[in-house]
Amino acid sequence: MKTLDQIRPSITTLDAIPAIPAIVQPLASILQLPVEQVNVEQVVQLVSYDSSIAAQCLRMANSPLFGRRKTETVRSAILTLGLKRVQAILLGCCLNRIVPADKWAFNATTFWRHSLGCALISRKLATLIGYAEPEKAYLSGLLHDLGMLVNTLACTDEYRKCFVAARDERVSVESAELKELGFTHCQSGKILAEHWKFSADVVAVIEFHHHVAETPSDPALVALIHLSDLLCRLRDLGYGYYEAMAVDLARDEAWLSLLEHCPQLATLDLARLTLDIDGAMGEIIALVDAVFRPDSSASI
Ligand SMILES: [Fe+2]
Ligand SMILES: [Fe+2]
Repeated sequence: MKTLDQIRPSITTLDAIPAIPAIVQPLASILQLPVEQVNVEQVVQLVSYDSSIAAQCLRMANSPLFGRRKTETVRSAILTLGLKRVQAILLGCCLNRIVPADKWAFNATTFWRHSLGCALISRKLATLIGYAEPEKAYLSGLLHDLGMLVNTLACTDEYRKCFVAARDERVSVESAELKELGFTHCQSGKILAEHWKFSADVVAVIEFHHHVAETPSDPALVALIHLSDLLCRLRDLGYGYYEAMAVDLARDEAWLSLLEHCPQLATLDLARLTLDIDGAMGEIIALVDAVFRPDSSASI
């Protein structure tokens, strides 16, 4: 078994994978720019280069979650979605390709459905609770399990065993990782996220989304992503197997942390919020289905 320190060098050379990080790194720096400094034509061009990215933008822009009218061109899709979201889609598509098809330790479609589902729920939840940056919540939701890609690439065979153990024992991926690998996707994801110079808040989400109380940065954001991840896993957008978990949202440390850090939540109650999320879930699942069709072989 390799330790985290032994795989650290291979994590920081992940940007040597052909073609992809050439796009990821400029995108990561674009994401730090104020929207008014981003050149829209450049983004239109970048999206138009790639038919699957363009198709994904169009599908999302045409979904009832975003679109107000039928969108038929890349340009209008980008204007409908907004630059921040297009950049998040681009980043998601780029990351999608860093894992060669034969290297996946678990089902790729399942992973992307979970990531996109978490992004969409995070954005919805952010809006419902009055979190100031719903687009940051979207991006953080999309990237929260980045470490699973790292583990897949850095220790494919052991990671395959890890997912089989998680499924057989019906435990969380994180606890199977600790048992089988000795480290978690949160730890390995943090190394790559820092290496790619993601913002401190996104790095904190990647490292602490399963240990909300320990985050040094933006506790509301980390708590929000923790809850969205949980909702995905409870509503068929998890990791492709049944996890035995007892969930009491009212006592969940993430909910308690949100109550502490978002004073406006005092006027909302959890039952009402859960109903609102349930109401949005149908549209979210329909959009996830449109972008990543459910795979009939979507098991480990
Ligand atoms: Fe996770
Ligand atoms: Fe997750």
